[in-house]
Amino acid sequence: MKKGNLILMLCTILIAIPLIESVSEGPKAVDKWFKEVALKKQKVTKLNFYFHDKIAPPSQTAYQVFESTLSSAGMAQFGRGYMFDNPLTVSPDLQSMSIGRGQGLSGAASLQEPRLLMNMNVVFTQGKFNGSTLQVLGANPILSPVREMSIVGGTGDFRLARGVATAQPYFFNATATILEFNLIVLHY
Ligand SMILES: *[C@@H]1O[C@H](CO)[C@@H](O)[C@H](O)[C@H]1NC(C)=O
Ligand SMILES: *[C@@H]1O[C@H](CO)[C@@H](O)[C@H](O)[C@H]1NC(C)=O
Repeated sequence: MKKGNLILMLCTILIAIPLIESVSEGPKAVDKWFKEVALKKQKVTKLNFYFHDKIAPPSQTAYQVFESTLSSAGMAQFGRGYMFDNPLTVSPDLQSMSIGRGQGLSGAASLQEPRLLMNMNVVFTQGKFNGSTLQVLGANPILSPVREMSIVGGTGDFRLARGVATAQPYFFNATATILEFNLIVLHY
């Protein structure tokens, strides 16, 4: 074997070994992950879950945290915002298996129509993505049958993730909303 080939082989082995180890927390582990990311294959993961938003008791999970002088004036409710920590479940039934929490902030961002700015962390607390998060950001026109938002990033298994989230109303009344979310995520 030529000397050059041997060096190449040794380098390949050295690069390959860290790939087998699981990625743990901390800046050193993230640094190592970044060095290896060029060798990783991009994956597509599809996720489906139900988001339960409740702005009144019992079991309230979303609370108004701000508003503007226009918020009470019209349909658009411009400037009214809620902080939420909503259960995410595998089926529309709140008692079904939990996959995590949808935690974030939504606020009425259009002067003309009921269109929210959604800024949500999908925090996984169960299953194979337990401990990972995804960041969903985008416009939520609450009268539309389908709302499309961006997946702008993630942590853990979803480092450098991007993708698309769609939300469709499953149920709503004056104080409770159930949205079905479908996420398609590109990640490593
Ligand atoms: C999820 O991860 C947390 C933190 O690492 C751990 O305490 C918990 O037991 C895990 N839950 C499941 C269902 O694996
Ligand atoms: C809306 O639905 C929720 C969940 O089913 C229920 O707890 C709540 O009482 C309902 N609120 C109104 C105003 O009907």
